[in-house]
Amino acid sequence: MPVIDIHNHFFPSSWPDLAARYGTPDWPWIKHTEPGQADIMVGDRFFRHIYSACWDPEVRLQEMDRDGVDVQVMSATPMLFAYERPVEHALDCARLFNDAALELCSRGKGRLKSLCQVPLQDIDAACKELSRCMRAGHLGVQIGNHVGSKNLDDPGVVTFLRHCADEGAAVLVHPWEMFGRERMPKYMMPWTVGMPAETQLAVVAMILSGAFDRLPSTLRICFAHGGGSFAFLLGRLENAWHHHPVARGESEHPPSYYLNRFYADSAVFDQRSLQFLVGTMGADQVMLGSDYPFPLGEERVGSLIRQSNLSHDAKAKLLGGNAVRFLGIKEGSKGASDAKSGATAGPGPLAPEPGRLTYSSYLKVPELLELQQPQSVPQHHDELLFILVHQTYELWFKELLHDLDAVVANLRKAGAAPQSHDEVYEAARLLRRCTEITRVLVEQFTILETMLPTHFMAFRGLLEPASGFQSEQFREIEFLCGLKDEKMLRYHRPTPEAYASLKRRLEEPSLHDVFFGALQAMGKLPPAGEGATERERFEARARAVHELYKDEHHHRDWIDVCERLTEFDELVVSWRLRHIQLVERIIGIRMGTGGSTGASYLKLTLDKKFFPELWEARTLLTE
Ligand code: HEM
Repeated sequence: MPVIDIHNHFFPSSWPDLAARYGTPDWPWIKHTEPGQADIMVGDRFFRHIYSACWDPEVRLQEMDRDGVDVQVMSATPMLFAYERPVEHALDCARLFNDAALELCSRGKGRLKSLCQVPLQDIDAACKELSRCMRAGHLGVQIGNHVGSKNLDDPGVVTFLRHCADEGAAVLVHPWEMFGRERMPKYMMPWTVGMPAETQLAVVAMILSGAFDRLPSTLRICFAHGGGSFAFLLGRLENAWHHHPVARGESEHPPSYYLNRFYADSAVFDQRSLQFLVGTMGADQVMLGSDYPFPLGEERVGSLIRQSNLSHDAKAKLLGGNAVRFLGIKEGSKGASDAKSGATAGPGPLAPEPGRLTYSSYLKVPELLELQQPQSVPQHHDELLFILVHQTYELWFKELLHDLDAVVANLRKAGAAPQSHDEVYEAARLLRRCTEITRVLVEQFTILETMLPTHFMAFRGLLEPASGFQSEQFREIEFLCGLKDEKMLRYHRPTPEAYASLKRRLEEPSLHDVFFGALQAMGKLPPAGEGATERERFEARARAVHELYKDEHHHRDWIDVCERLTEFDELVVSWRLRHIQLVERIIGIRMGTGGSTGASYLKLTLDKKFFPELWEARTLLTE
């Protein structure tokens, strides 16, 4: 099944001067600003920045390959509808762009298809242009969600929709000319608030006017942008329908009855919204739509669906199965086979089935590669390395926390069931992983040392006040292992979630607590007497470790844990030392961006140990 994007747009690279052609102002025109870049202007006014994917099939096909899209069904943009202009101008404009769309498709290796546009202010002219376009090779039509003050329940528009059903034309309804503009002059609110409301209005008008009751069920119609706010407010509509006769309009059935009469696209940009949309409309009624290649479109077409928790079957429907039905492409017909041959031509690798897990969808590679956002403009070459090295550390910190938490859980169980050795072995095995990771972390600083101090200084100023002090995971590792310093919480005040998880770590028993708790449960560490000083408690713990080592024959497994903990402690100190060397090499004795005295402050941390009793036990052993 091909992956089909049914909502995306094109602009030809040029078109006639429409203002001069029709003798009226404010028609869109294209201003090429630099190779591959252009601005869409309306009269003297800037409207939108676009790039070559709009007009160059090669660029489009490359990006489709990148995103794993087999077919795009392109439409022009609503700004060209011209429903408010004289019909002869709107019709001429529609023809220009409809023919330009087919010309682009002819260079699209069978993978580009198109929807036409029609002068909907004149139903007769609209029907004729639609028929002409269907014969010429368009798969359907894109219409606005209203024609001036007329909604889609207007009798003329309903006649046009019947004609679409008769012609087998798919209809994509796109919001445009948003109402309430005088109250939405700022913040792009016509896009973010007006468009969803316009689309909802269009769906509701068709339902309550009884248009769906009168139109044949063969009409295939889709509402863009997830159907706007319709799905979310269906409950409200349904409630009104049941309680107020006037809210029923002419519809024969409650609104939810009509959900299988229309489609919505997936351009909702949020997993929860997609889940909700599919939950409301059903997996048979939602199709991949991206709004590509416009700035507010889906950046990696199809990623929202692919990364969702929808079932494999549902994903396959959304990615292509439903579009095949919507577009009226018969299996084995030219459209479907073109789509497939375009995607799999040649001896290349097998195209993955839509919705199936791939290397990159499993590992979220596209998202991962989006996460490096340098601050320098123009970008300093070494800033990418600086970001990547830090991100790599943070990823390994995540794994360390994951494993150390498991070590704690195992040692806790070991303390509760001293006869069982499995948990002790498991703790030692996981600790070995922690030491291996930390060894890599010590080594990794050398990569960053390939950056010259001058190169770092070129962008260091942009980083303030971000500082390693704010590495939540590093501090979590310290707290989890037992090095708890409440003062360090202050660096995390700006990020409440980090603050909360550190606070939790501060209050929870640490690995240190759990380890000695287990020795106590095994009878190796006598409970501290009332009034024992901290020093006495410390010495008792060191003696308990000492006892284990003296009876190696019986305590091999626990000694192994002790060795791993010691090694981990040692490697963390190595990490601290290598970090200081790096700091000195790159910024000398300058202050840190976190406000500390830099290297001289960091040197004070070298004496920190997670398990000082394990070191003390060594002194006892050699006495
Ligand atoms: C150009 C490279 C680096 C420089 C110049 C540098 C500098 C510093 C300085 C001066 C501090 C002290 C706090 C402050 O005042 O900001 C610090 C702390 C810290 N840095 Fe770095 N750092 C570098 C690379 C790294 C890397 C790659 C990591 C990896 C995660 C890292 C993690 C940390 C952590 C966790 C702390 C807190 C240490 C503690 O509180 O004991 N740093 N860094």
